[in-house]
Amino acid sequence: MRNVVILAGGSGTRLWPMSRDDRPKQVLPLAAGESLLRVAYNRLQGLVEPENIYVCTVGAYADVVRKELPELGPHAIIGEPARRDTANAVGLASAVVARNDPDAVVAFVGSDHLISPEDEFRAAIEAGFAVVEERPRSLVTFGIEPTHPHTGLGYIERGAAIDGTSAYVVDRFREKPDLATAEQYLATGRFWWNSGMFVWRAETVLSVLDELLPESAANLRQVASVWDTPDRDATLAAIYPNLRKISVDYAVMEPASQGKVDAEVVVVPMPVHWLDVGSWAALAGTYAADAAGNRTDGTTLSCLLDSHDNIIVTDDPNHLIATVGLRAHIIVHTQDVTMVCPLTDGERVKDLVAQVQSDH
Ligand code: GDD
Ligand code: MG
Repeated sequence: MRNVVILAGGSGTRLWPMSRDDRPKQVLPLAAGESLLRVAYNRLQGLVEPENIYVCTVGAYADVVRKELPELGPHAIIGEPARRDTANAVGLASAVVARNDPDAVVAFVGSDHLISPEDEFRAAIEAGFAVVEERPRSLVTFGIEPTHPHTGLGYIERGAAIDGTSAYVVDRFREKPDLATAEQYLATGRFWWNSGMFVWRAETVLSVLDELLPESAANLRQVASVWDTPDRDATLAAIYPNLRKISVDYAVMEPASQGKVDAEVVVVPMPVHWLDVGSWAALAGTYAADAAGNRTDGTTLSCLLDSHDNIIVTDDPNHLIATVGLRAHIIVHTQDVTMVCPLTDGERVKDLVAQVQSDH
């Protein structure tokens, strides 16, 4: 059976102070008034049966997810008691989905992407399902044509084409290379960005985790074995927070692409406009710019005198942001926090949040 799991446990800290623990990035109305989670869910329509769609998220977000997607059944939210990154989230969701269906095939998709056209997205995921059904040991990734040497993404080097499909064998998967390496990759013309979406048989990724992250794999199988019993929450709470925090990209995709396990990494091209809405600079790319290159979110009231190339956002339509002589800064105003940061330091908002949390 085909399934889709939306991974929605990220914290979105680089979009602070708009993104907070109680209203994380996924549920903010960042996509033309809709939330990224709603958009991620809607774009799955027609791909699999609604009862085969799951959302995997940290427990603290379960209520906001349920509110945002009321059509999800109670079984469809897979809640982790702590954030242990995507290797464990993928392992947990795979073990849970496979408990009643050992042949389950699962597509994992993110909750923080803007994608168009959606037909191309669905066609690529369909192609991924077909590859996995034909080649049960394959781990399918989706490649996005890169536009610049972004260091916050994974890179996929395509190898030989697989006959009769749109897919290629992957020669190398490299997560978040440094700038010089990313530039070299782009120059070869053989690399795609990793979209952060995957398709595989649940049992295949679990057997790969058995080898690459054995402690997680054993513990996650144990959790799945009590999933339908009253012991679920206590078992999860005892086990999950102690798992090693690591992403699926480092734990599975890099070593699998180096032939360290019995699995084959494959890439299906996804010819779409794709944006990982991870930072203010990325999000502001979706806003219209004025003649001086300033970007606001459309409802923000601003008066910008001799100011260029700034990103200005407030969640209060009655609050005026006024600047003079300001160049290339981000200003985000919310009811209780105002953040100001040079554009070139946008990735450091994450560090700022850590600092604020330790100080306040
Ligand atoms: N359930 C759950 N639990 N979800 C999580 C967790 C977790 O602990 N951590 C992250 N996620 C979710 C995020 O909400 C997001 O939808 C997705 O998993 C990816 O996590 P990110 O933290 O956003 O990863 P990234 O952007 O740094 O890198 C990944 O995505 C890139 C594309 O956007 C990698 O797969 C890269 O290779 C890829 O290029
Ligand atoms: Mg991301």
